[in-house]
Amino acid sequence: MKIAIFAGSTRTGSINGKLVNALHPLLVEAGFEVTVLSLSDYEMPLYDGDWEEANGAPETAKALAAVLSQQDAVYVVSPEYNGSLPPLLKNTIDWMTRIGTMDQYHNPIWLIASCTPGPMAGIMVMRQIQYILTRIGTQVLQFQLGVGNAATAFDENGRLARDFEKDLADKVIMNLKKRLKS
Ligand SMILES: Cc1cc2nc3c(=O)[nH]c(=O)nc-3n(C[C@H](O)[C@H](O)[C@H](O)COP(=O)(O)O)c2cc1C
Repeated sequence: MKIAIFAGSTRTGSINGKLVNALHPLLVEAGFEVTVLSLSDYEMPLYDGDWEEANGAPETAKALAAVLSQQDAVYVVSPEYNGSLPPLLKNTIDWMTRIGTMDQYHNPIWLIASCTPGPMAGIMVMRQIQYILTRIGTQVLQFQLGVGNAATAFDENGRLARDFEKDLADKVIMNLKKRLKS
């Protein structure tokens, strides 16, 4: 079972990057072949119709889509900006709908997680990502992982520190495995 995981932030010290790093060993322990991706390796211009007319879709959008389309699952771990998606993630999702194939959305099951400094754990952005992905025909796992209060969410080894979030992370992965076997 192959899974790719990436954060919707490329910021140094990103708490969503930290959540990616905490989920990585859990996915390996669950038997997944894990590919950790960084959107900094797939830079794309801000979507602009004139740019697209002149250049077509960016090669980076095609390259990222090619990697994602080979996966059984894709785990997106996103910051919440004003109750919604950060422009980096929305732009990446949008460009990948412009490359001529939707395999990256239609082949793998997508999972959604979010990490926030405050207690609300990204519930608004996760709903919005779910809506957008569903709108473009993606199978989205209905269980989501929200991790709030980021300052105390990770232990000294970078793993999830609190039992209820560890349990939730495990439940999401168990649910994914069930879905992939059915
Ligand atoms: C423009 C902007 C809007 C934000 N809006 C929210 C928000 O709606 N909810 C929230 O929990 N945090 C919000 N934050 C705080 C982010 O969760 C915080 O900056 C977080 O560290 C970003 O994720 P990262 O560390 O992975 O880059 C916002 C931050 C920015 C820059």
